[in-house]
Amino acid sequence: METSARSWAVVVEMKLSQTRRHWDKMAETDPFWAVLTDPDKKGNRWQIDEFFADGKNTVEAELKGVRARYPGLRTGRALDFGCGVGRLTQALALHFERVTGVDISEKMLGLADRYNRHGDRVNYVHNSRPDLQLLAGDQFDFVYSLITLQHMEPVYARRYIAEFVRVAAPGGVILFQLPSQQPRENTLLTLWLPTLYKRLRRRLRRWLSVWFLFEPVMEMHALPRAEILALLDQAGAELLNAYRYDAAGSELESWGYLARKR
Ligand SMILES: C[S@@+](CC[C@H](N)C(=O)[O-])C[C@H]1O[C@@H](n2cnc3c(N)ncnc32)[C@H](O)[C@@H]1O
Repeated sequence: METSARSWAVVVEMKLSQTRRHWDKMAETDPFWAVLTDPDKKGNRWQIDEFFADGKNTVEAELKGVRARYPGLRTGRALDFGCGVGRLTQALALHFERVTGVDISEKMLGLADRYNRHGDRVNYVHNSRPDLQLLAGDQFDFVYSLITLQHMEPVYARRYIAEFVRVAAPGGVILFQLPSQQPRENTLLTLWLPTLYKRLRRRLRRWLSVWFLFEPVMEMHALPRAEILALLDQAGAELLNAYRYDAAGSELESWGYLARKR
């Protein structure tokens, strides 16, 4: 399967071990751009201060929205799932006593440690399992995940969403974002031979990339909104809000989900 909403983001199906290798490779080559894919910043052109300021603004705006819906938000422990280089983790540490960032890429986490400005109030944890068993249940006041669940097969995203609810403290808040519609598939069908050749070549390149890390591939997936609402409910969370959340640079319809563990 392949298609692209953008040339770098494709619908491919990868096991977590492959996902991990691809993100490690992105962390080695252009880590800040891999996190925030602003076309002007490709080729290591993000200024570090500007990059982390973006995280600070995002978290501030988001927490304002959370408090408007749920003034009872506690500020003890927060979890940032798919933390990358710590853009949001560092910002969360301005609002919560302790923050845990979890990521599948050790290389991303190496950078996150390097840019940690909050000492041991922030800890970064590597996890390549399809669950969050390394984290005890009922502990986080805020569980947060942006532009991460979309980069893995839905079979994993579903499981992590249930895990978000498990690790949240009773009354804790969960906030994450996901596209609701899969990018459209490009068909191979065409009678025009040069176009067919180009499409086949692109497909072959992607296939080689996925299996042989020819070049890193950023998976792109979606989960329908109704399915997420049902998942949250089954896992024991009450939905506080579902709202359009179109991630920067993405052409896909995306939604933010704000829920509270019962
Ligand atoms: C686009 S970056 C977003 C980073 C961060 N959430 C932010 O907004 O700054 C996606 C991150 O998700 C991580 N990731 C992908 N699959 C993951 C998984 N199964 N478990 C944990 N992290 C994962 C990648 O390594 C990468 O660091």
